[in-house]
Amino acid sequence: MIKQAIIPLAGLGTRLLPLTSVFAKELLPINGRPGIEYILDECIDAGIKEVVFIISDKKIMIKDYFYNDTFYKSIIKKKKDPRITKEYKKILRYKKMIKFVYQNKPLGTGDAVLKTEKYIKNNFFLMLLPDDLIIKKNCSKSMIKVHKIYKSSVMASMNVNRKTVSRWGIYKIDKKLNKKNYLINKVIEKPSVKFAPSNKAVIGRYILPKRIFLKLKKLKPGKSGELHITDAIQSLINDKEKFIAHNFSGKYLDCGTMAGYIKSSMEIKKI
Ligand code: UTP
Repeated sequence: MIKQAIIPLAGLGTRLLPLTSVFAKELLPINGRPGIEYILDECIDAGIKEVVFIISDKKIMIKDYFYNDTFYKSIIKKKKDPRITKEYKKILRYKKMIKFVYQNKPLGTGDAVLKTEKYIKNNFFLMLLPDDLIIKKNCSKSMIKVHKIYKSSVMASMNVNRKTVSRWGIYKIDKKLNKKNYLINKVIEKPSVKFAPSNKAVIGRYILPKRIFLKLKKLKPGKSGELHITDAIQSLINDKEKFIAHNFSGKYLDCGTMAGYIKSSMEIKKI
């Protein structure tokens, strides 16, 4: 059963500068709503009951967004506006399911995941990278279905232009299970075109085993001196842990770059 999700939010967001010099990118509005709300809605719809946010002191505004009760209560008292009451109720619902942990030095996604260890109860948990919005079909929900069938780890995947492989984690197929799901035997963090084992990229949705914490604790820094979740996954694969790449059917929006962020509002407006 996948009931817990973790969301790393402690990165610097340099690709969205200057916006991120004072603002958390996950709160930037996408068609009038903070991006993180789309991610939380995806979790709720997929049956997730608890979400652990990995933030940093610099991104405390993310916590403030969900803990602004005194402000809301005073406004609702004064204005009696049903829209504001509705928004407040929605935020309260999110707040109830979120726990916060801190990663004050951005030492990589692997290091961020490690901070959540004490909260993870079951053998598997979901991880969502908030820059990656997937619309039209709930990717997490589809991945949980795949996990139920194969009892294995699952990662969201899509084909990318070969020239852009150095932006992603790229994997190699071991065996095709069916049209949408492949067993993988290799994953490399941001390879050069020359060393990429394919043009199949991992997108920011993962169902990971609790055992990954053991690997993360032993992991040596990889590319750019950071601890990468991809390297811990490869270490698990070396130990014969099954990882499935799931080709999702929704539409992918990359909100971590300026061009992608701008486009995302227009795409969401269309649905
Ligand atoms: P990225 O490396 O893609 O994004 O991390 P970033 O660091 O926020 O932004 P850029 O690259 O400087 O523009 C993917 C996700 O992992 C989180 C980020 O917040 C993002 O959601 N992350 C990354 C952490 O929580 N901690 C880290 O040390 C690194």
